[in-house]
Amino acid sequence: MNRAEPLMALAAITKSFTLGSATIHALRGVDMSIRRGETVAVTGPSGSGKSTLLNLCGLLDQPDGGEVWFDGAALRNASETSRAQLRRAAIGFVFQSFNLVPVMSAADNVDYPLYLLGVPPRERAERVARALDRVGLSGFAKHRPDQLSGGQRQRVAIARAIVKNPRLVIADEPTANLDAATAAQVISLMKQLAHEQGTSFVIATHDDRMLAHCDRALMLDDGVLAGGSYAN
Ligand SMILES: Nc1ncnc2c1ncn2[C@@H]1O[C@H](COP(=O)(O)OP(=O)(O)O)[C@@H](O)[C@H]1O
Ligand SMILES: [Mg+2]
Repeated sequence: MNRAEPLMALAAITKSFTLGSATIHALRGVDMSIRRGETVAVTGPSGSGKSTLLNLCGLLDQPDGGEVWFDGAALRNASETSRAQLRRAAIGFVFQSFNLVPVMSAADNVDYPLYLLGVPPRERAERVARALDRVGLSGFAKHRPDQLSGGQRQRVAIARAIVKNPRLVIADEPTANLDAATAAQVISLMKQLAHEQGTSFVIATHDDRMLAHCDRALMLDDGVLAGGSYAN
């Protein structure tokens, strides 16, 4: 691994959707790179292409044109199976609506990806405890989602995303259902984890107040990255 090389790079990415007779150009030539351990905010109004871009970064979807590199490897000719393996092992996801399993405790929600990866039970228990500790929820392992606040639920979701030690975490509007103070705490937590663990975070938001809490902000406008970026 070359640490100076970006974790992910996208070049000249285009993506369109067809709805009936209309074609929607969701991304029109996007170039970006994500360094190891940085938090990148992707901002822009609703419909500007944020989710489309994050789905490509998360290897959930493929572009129509352009090239995607992950860890130095071009993915253009990768099979669906190898993309899925890479996604499962290397990428974590955090969603606006938390997407926790309601009948499972916080610990069981965090454990689930490790179970799917076939990690032995004793190692799973240790890693789940460590992940809950990282997000400040050690005392809440047995709580179900309905026994937690919105901010605590999102922290459980972050623990679930980081428990497999991913290279990249994709967070699509993770603070949209949180009040401003809780949202700022959640973004700060992501930035702290990124710096401590070398995990990169790509965070979509249309809340400008979140930008100050990230290393860098990219602005999407109608499928084009506009206005450049800045580093805090
Ligand atoms: N699966 C899809 N089918 C058709 N149109 C889509 C689909 N996904 C996104 N779009 C369209 O692409 C554009 C960008 O959407 P999206 O990436 O969801 O934006 P954002 O996340 O910034 O709100 C919008 O015009 C949206 O309606
Ligand atoms: Mg969206």
